[in-house]
Amino acid sequence: MEENKFEFNYKVFTSIDELPQDQQQLLKEAREVTSQAYAPYSNFQVGAVAKLTNGELVKGSNQENASFPVGLCAERVLLASISSIHPKTPAEAIAISYKSDQHTSDHPISPCGICRQALQEFEMRTNHPVQLILGGMSGPVYVIDSASRLLPLAFTSEELR
Ligand code: THU
Repeated sequence: MEENKFEFNYKVFTSIDELPQDQQQLLKEAREVTSQAYAPYSNFQVGAVAKLTNGELVKGSNQENASFPVGLCAERVLLASISSIHPKTPAEAIAISYKSDQHTSDHPISPCGICRQALQEFEMRTNHPVQLILGGMSGPVYVIDSASRLLPLAFTSEELR
């Protein structure tokens, strides 16, 4: 028997002001796009903005539904948009932010399990790591070099070959 360990490094910035200019810009866009969320049930508005390798920005926000499981997270709305508008174009980075009437937005949130799976497949199919920039409306910011880091021992398309 051997014991294996999974670990990864990520950067913690004390505020958006410490980030390099291009990352600051992307996080600001993600903060702004929270306003386009349709989240009347949770009142938790999430914004995600990707910078593609061709320089374009694509935006997504969570879209809820009276039939709750129908709702989509901002990350998967974003990934579907990227793949529809710019098929096969990799993303350099995705910034994710949120706001809420009921919760303070002063720390990063990270993608849910389903979105981690979707991000992993997106990285694999575009053959490019996606840097994640995670931050609230204020407070610290996490930068993770590749979204797949968040999903160790992932089930991937490799298994279906
Ligand atoms: N949500 C996202 O859009 N992204 C996440 O990473 C976590 C959760 C959405 C789903 C739902 O509309 C609301 O936030 C509350 O869970």
